Amino acid sequence: RNYPAMACEYFTHKGVLFPCLDYSPENLSYVENEFQVRDDDVFNITYLKSGTNWMVEILSLIRCGGDPGWVRSVLNWDRAPWMESWPGLEAALKYPPPRLLCSHLPIQLFPKSLQRSKAKIIYTLRCPKDVLVSLYHFSKLVHLFKDPGSLDSFLEDFLSGNVPYGSWFDHVTGWMGLKGNENFFFITYEELQQDPWGSVRRICHFLGNELSEEQVAAVVENASFQSMKGNKMSNFSQLSDKYMDHQKGEFLRKGICGDWRNHLSETQSQQFDTVYQKRIDQPKPVPEPEL
Ligand code: A3P
Repeated sequence: RNYPAMACEYFTHKGVLFPCLDYSPENLSYVENEFQVRDDDVFNITYLKSGTNWMVEILSLIRCGGDPGWVRSVLNWDRAPWMESWPGLEAALKYPPPRLLCSHLPIQLFPKSLQRSKAKIIYTLRCPKDVLVSLYHFSKLVHLFKDPGSLDSFLEDFLSGNVPYGSWFDHVTGWMGLKGNENFFFITYEELQQDPWGSVRRICHFLGNELSEEQVAAVVENASFQSMKGNKMSNFSQLSDKYMDHQKGEFLRKGICGDWRNHLSETQSQQFDTVYQKRIDQPKPVPEPEL
């Protein structure tokens, strides 16, 4: 089977690029304006390639007290559907509460009903240079995304937000606006790597689902890169050819911090730093009043 003809096209919705495969402006509008967030929902929110599926595994295992039965018998995208794609939305609407849902949406496109709810949000941030490298490789495998071309041109696209789901900088600054809110939990991919036990304990505490030391250890073990790689319910080997060319590589690629150093040149890294400094390090200028 060969699907490329129907894939790799994008459309723009409210200034953000989305793949045509499985996404539509109608669905995105429905999600933003009509989707009803429940107080008992847990949202796993990330920019692309920031550890979304690792967090799905952790959250799935926490729900089961570390027992791997669920993660070994149910596909990860059924355990935590992708709200904004149409198959994910359909699954989210049928999901018996309490729901575990995923989203890469920038905050301005997220369901408005979140504002009136007590739903819990977990936001995972990853070093953006590693996100760039991971997304570069991923874009070569999946039919949802266009071929990224050279790393140089992809770097330009990434820095200007000309990639699916839009700018990493907008995503992060948008969601970080919720920092300090009691229903918002923020963690980094790097923290998960450095201190998986402490990270899992903190997530459990946020969810109000305290686990024993043994259960925390079971969550860490069953959500490890190696465990996920060997679990066909979590390693995307079951994803249809419609979405991914399995001959070209694996979803679980390296799973490390700092891989960007193996890919970005000094010049490319500096180009990144210049934009990062402008967008993240420096405070936003006060807008000029209109005269
Ligand atoms: P790499 O391409 O750098 O290996 P997402 O789930 O948001 O698409 O993110 C995918 C990235 O997270 C990939 O990064 C993948 O290998 C990594 N990843 C997935 N599960 C992981 C785990 N258990 N431990 C560490 N990294 C993991």
